[in-house]
Amino acid sequence: MNKKINKILLSRREYLKGKLRSFQLTYHPINLFKIWLKDAYEAKIPDFNMMSLGTIDKNHQSHQRIVSMKKIEKKKIIFFTNFSSKKALHIKYNSRVSLLFIWNNINRQILLLGTAKKISHDKSLKYFYTRPKLSQISIWASQQSRKISNRNILEHTFKTFQKKFENSIVPFPKFWGGYQVDIYTAEFWQGRRNRLHDRFLYEKIHSKWIVTRIAP
Ligand SMILES: Cc1cc2nc3c(=O)[nH]c(=O)nc-3n(C[C@H](O)[C@H](O)[C@H](O)COP(=O)(O)O)c2cc1C
Repeated sequence: MNKKINKILLSRREYLKGKLRSFQLTYHPINLFKIWLKDAYEAKIPDFNMMSLGTIDKNHQSHQRIVSMKKIEKKKIIFFTNFSSKKALHIKYNSRVSLLFIWNNINRQILLLGTAKKISHDKSLKYFYTRPKLSQISIWASQQSRKISNRNILEHTFKTFQKKFENSIVPFPKFWGGYQVDIYTAEFWQGRRNRLHDRFLYEKIHSKWIVTRIAP
């Protein structure tokens, strides 16, 4: 079994889906990001808006988890979560986060580094009410990242809230909302033949974006 897995792990393929040329670079990396997002959507990449969010805890240990990018506003990337979750505690301690997108069907990877900060209560509230009612209730039912002894507790809590809000709108949970990530570094990676990939690094230096090609 292990031998077979290790054999599978050695499988390789060439990355031939495209190129990133310097004339395609935009001044602001979020503009190029939006072009690539559209490409990912048109290439029908499932869950193309999912990103790995990296945070750092008090012991300088890095953590990652997938979250959904729900909006880009004023060049900032917005996601939603529970303010008592592990990630939220990390952000409170260290607002520097990473966001990683992998769209390997089109041989692309994007890494964004930036600072995360809570969006306004009104904006979180507005998004909350776009969610289906049961998804609103699930936020009330889960104290995200807390230890629980079994699944029944979760389902029982969900049912209790479902009953409670049966004939009313679900109140907005103040312990939940959005973060916006204001980026200061972006790296665009386009896979190329023979692993000679295109990589361009954007860095915000004295409020100006500087872009440089980097070795694969
Ligand atoms: C495809 C996918 C999408 C997810 N989207 C979100 C999201 O938008 N917000 C969120 O809080 N958790 C989301 N999760 C769950 C997180 O990955 C994670 O388990 C949860 O937020 C708790 O993380 P933490 O304990 O590190 O805070 C998603 C998971 C997957 C696999």
